[in-house]
Amino acid sequence: TQSFKASIALFGATGDLSRRKLLPSMFHLFQEGSLTHDFAILAIGRKDMNDEDFREVARTSLQDNEKLESLEGLDSFLSCIHYVQVDITDVDSYSTLKDKFESVESSVDTEGNRLFYLAMPPQFFTVITDNLRRSGVTETKGYKKLIIEKPFGRDYESAYRLNQDISKTFEEHEIYRIDHYLGKEMVQNIEVIRFSNSLFEPLWNNHYISNIQITSSESLGVLDRGEYYERSGAVRDMFQNHMLQIVSLLGMEPPISLSSDDIRDEKIKVLKSIRKIDKKDVKNHFVRGQYDEGTVDGEYVCKYRDEEDVSETSNTPTFIAARLFIDNFRWAGVPFYIRTGKRMRNKETKIVVEFKEVPKNLYYQNEQDDILSKNLLILRIQPDESISLQLNVKDHGSEKDTKEIKLSYAIDNKDLARTVDAYENLIYDCLNGDAANFTHYEELMNAWQFVDSINQVWETDIAPFPNYRAGSDGPVKSNLLLSKDGFKWWNV
Ligand code: BG6
Repeated sequence: TQSFKASIALFGATGDLSRRKLLPSMFHLFQEGSLTHDFAILAIGRKDMNDEDFREVARTSLQDNEKLESLEGLDSFLSCIHYVQVDITDVDSYSTLKDKFESVESSVDTEGNRLFYLAMPPQFFTVITDNLRRSGVTETKGYKKLIIEKPFGRDYESAYRLNQDISKTFEEHEIYRIDHYLGKEMVQNIEVIRFSNSLFEPLWNNHYISNIQITSSESLGVLDRGEYYERSGAVRDMFQNHMLQIVSLLGMEPPISLSSDDIRDEKIKVLKSIRKIDKKDVKNHFVRGQYDEGTVDGEYVCKYRDEEDVSETSNTPTFIAARLFIDNFRWAGVPFYIRTGKRMRNKETKIVVEFKEVPKNLYYQNEQDDILSKNLLILRIQPDESISLQLNVKDHGSEKDTKEIKLSYAIDNKDLARTVDAYENLIYDCLNGDAANFTHYEELMNAWQFVDSINQVWETDIAPFPNYRAGSDGPVKSNLLLSKDGFKWWNV
């Protein structure tokens, strides 16, 4: 294990993300030895608290975390945390932060490395980076890095402006834009499976693959994030980032090396080659949905329009299904189908790669109807993390009958316990200077360009919402996207 020297300034330290994900991830990195006594967390908040008060908050969050297997080293970890009260909109208030960095650096060997983590709503990104620069907090003898949560803008224009603002303080190579799906083990496995097996790469193209399906369903509703969600909806919340990132990993060419630049260059090319959809064609490629009341996990739940902070006439989609084409040599003609939504039947993220049929059936699963099962490669990202390959074998004792079998591998519990969360991988990568699993500016802008046309149509055109029951697979119309091409969603 490599160990890193740095102080981490955590903006939004008392917020939900910090307590549920970031502090547990940092604690686990401490337990594993990646963070040692040569590091400090400067927990930044508005509230009047002292170190002891904040350490109690952190202690409770860590004790309550179900993923942590032990609390060994808890007291020493907590002693590395210092609370700093900052009014983030007031530049003068940053002098407290500057003093704190200096006092910590005089006793802890961080080499002056400063990592700024903005676990904050996006309206504060510009003011914080401006004030960090104006107050001189970013002047240090070590490195400075910025980790920034999504959403990064709400369309091409605003993302461009936000980036201009942030670039006054941080250069592109210092900016780590989080897409937490890129920290998930099985998402990272896409590249490994593709590029470390000679078996798949020769087949990974429009000669042998008929279509690729990505499903990311959630059973939860919008919880207490109605205000945020009303402004974003499924397109900005899940599709523009997590889903298109998965598409680019599935579609990219082999990178010439594993460096961040080489990997991201290939992903950018995929995002650039996704066919732009004309406004008048949006309805042929995308289906939107919003949940009605229904039953999820045996419990009654209300419709989206009845959620807190949501308009009674809301036009915000909580579901999107899409049909994309990557117009390049490898993928021309192969549809990529994507669906993601809230309040669906279950929580599941998976990728199904469907291979083309054999040129002529000699064997059958059902001879009368000339049916032979499809070869499928199924990558399960969550809740279980597994890979399986669906093949046909001889049905025992018969001549021409086949049956389908699955060759499977599941990540075992011991390996699962090695990281507490996707965030742990990402924080490690950032400390290590590896940006491959973060979104580059060019990826971001290409993704916005693609989704802007959908949002422009959907935001002006009123939808007949609600149109799917909570606890279902989403609007029935999403099946038509596939059936008109002769395919169906694989519920495998
Ligand atoms: C976040 C979205 O980016 O991803 C949430 O803002 C969503 O709305 C979440 O629930 C899903 O992440 P995961 O890791 O639970 O699949």
